[in-house]
Amino acid sequence: MNTFWSKKVQSTQLLDASRKEKFNNDNKKLWFNLLHIHNNLKILEVGCGSGHFLNMIKTNYPTCEVYGIDLDDGHIKYAKAQSKKLNIDVNYSVADVKHLPFEDNSFDIVFSHTLIEHLPFDDFIQEQKRVLKSNGKLVIMRVDMVKRNDKPFEYLENEIGEIFNGIHCPKETSVGQYLEDPDITMQKLNKYKFKNIKLHYDRIIFYMPDVEKNKKIAISQIERNYQTKLTDAIFVAQKSKMESKQKNKLLNLLKCQYEERLRLLNINQKLYDFESSFLITITATK
Ligand SMILES: C[S@@+](CC[C@H](N)C(=O)[O-])C[C@H]1O[C@@H](n2cnc3c(N)ncnc32)[C@H](O)[C@@H]1O
Repeated sequence: MNTFWSKKVQSTQLLDASRKEKFNNDNKKLWFNLLHIHNNLKILEVGCGSGHFLNMIKTNYPTCEVYGIDLDDGHIKYAKAQSKKLNIDVNYSVADVKHLPFEDNSFDIVFSHTLIEHLPFDDFIQEQKRVLKSNGKLVIMRVDMVKRNDKPFEYLENEIGEIFNGIHCPKETSVGQYLEDPDITMQKLNKYKFKNIKLHYDRIIFYMPDVEKNKKIAISQIERNYQTKLTDAIFVAQKSKMESKQKNKLLNLLKCQYEERLRLLNINQKLYDFESSFLITITATK
């Protein structure tokens, strides 16, 4: 049983909360397009984590046949439970991207999000190429680590930051060590004889409640943002063995911050605070 990622790096709940926050119904057209999704395709996501992308794809494109693999048993268990809850049919299994349990030439699209940086390129690509149909699409997505110049809601941020800065979380050595510039990845894909290699660069603004005309959407943004921060705090507290008094203080500060943000929205005091993420997507054809 492999639970390295869900126990040591990022809990399944935190992974899922952060994906739900960033990739949502408001911006799904953008990333469905980047992934080249349309009806009646056979699609595989490698390193699918909590299954958020695949569950959204299957919900919006029910005629697609959808598969997801991940090394982590905890993530896959959660992904299966989520798809059952949504009453959709997604084929999740525990597997290594280095040994995919599928026939040659079987998928129209094979994609990944934030997997490429965690293993050597040859291990990452060989099996994906094998299971792709000829003329099938490979899509590699990841986050750009550049400074984002976000403007988060600042109320109580210093107090919250102080608690986070005062703790020590052990870093997992194998995580993110193969991060490379996109041009290098593109050169490597060229060596692997992929065609039509393209780069897309998008900024996703996933939190800016004050621009929403629909108050329900604005409130849901604030709630999603709170859920991500809360889940992050709980995971960090557990990983750093934080004392329960300190943990309760942190959770309480986050709750006060959330309530204050909702209060300001409700009295129509516009702040235009925002949070965003840079998405790098490389697409190629086999
Ligand atoms: C940063 S998470 C991204 C998860 C998901 N793609 C997402 O963005 O929500 C990286 C994932 O890759 C998985 N992973 C790492 N090495 C793997 C491998 N060799 N084969 C399959 N999955 C792997 C981890 O278990 C983890 O779920």
